[in-house]
Amino acid sequence: MADARAKVTVPAVRARKGGDRLTMVTAYDFPSAQIASEAGIDMILVGDSVGNAVHGLEDTLRVTVDMMVLHGAAVARAKPHSLVVVDMPWLSYHVSIEEAIRNAGRMVQEGGAEAVKLEGARPEVVERIVDAEIPVQGHLGLTPQSVHAMGGYRVQGKALDAARRMIADARALEAAGAFSLVLEGVPDLLGEVITREVGIPTIGIGAGPATDGQVLVFHDVLGIGGGRYPKFVRSYADLRSESISALARYADDVRAGSFPAAAETYHMSEDVTAELLEEVLASGDLVPSQS
Ligand code: KIV
Repeated sequence: MADARAKVTVPAVRARKGGDRLTMVTAYDFPSAQIASEAGIDMILVGDSVGNAVHGLEDTLRVTVDMMVLHGAAVARAKPHSLVVVDMPWLSYHVSIEEAIRNAGRMVQEGGAEAVKLEGARPEVVERIVDAEIPVQGHLGLTPQSVHAMGGYRVQGKALDAARRMIADARALEAAGAFSLVLEGVPDLLGEVITREVGIPTIGIGAGPATDGQVLVFHDVLGIGGGRYPKFVRSYADLRSESISALARYADDVRAGSFPAAAETYHMSEDVTAELLEEVLASGDLVPSQS
């Protein structure tokens, strides 16, 4: 069932600058979108982190436009009250502006996106996609699609010149028409300065507490992923352990023959049961067990 809460729109997100903090979480499918919406999350990011979190890929570079469209459409089908932002994957907006607009259009037409997100300082691309009536969220700092260029997943903007460049990039993205800006893996002071310098909401992930909102990966918040989480993650559940324990108990019940029980089984009417048993007995076949 669709969430009855008021739909979060791009203008509503913009209007939250400096106001109540914005909440954002990734979701990649129908049930996770329903869960995020019912939890009152403002924005769902169909992130290209789907490559790592769902497809078990080493990085996001192998994620394609088709994958993002598929996951976006599953999320949109949940009709969340949250704004649905779909990530543009690597190479979908790097080759030409025309390709970038077409790919952003696919996210909207086929993937149910209400906005797209682009990594890096590409104001000229952002401007043209916004011109095509597609709202764009920027993303600066530790941008995972630049993993090789950055030499690994490293905190960005620690040096003065890099911090200055990022402030200028943030301003340029705002001038190009981005409606909000994700800041990932930057020192808290830089997160705060950029938040003060731009008139659009900043959404932090590993960017300290001063941004206008926060975003985390669904699997990290719920403790579904295996292995170690980055320093900036706070897990609010341990669904991995709970899921393993639930599945192990299910397997135990199957092995012990205690699942399914009578209440979990379909039964025939008494008349049909009596007639069938009579026929089976008459034919000399084995009588089926009655639970
Ligand atoms: O793909 C993603 O999940 C992201 C967030 C980490 C911001 O881009």
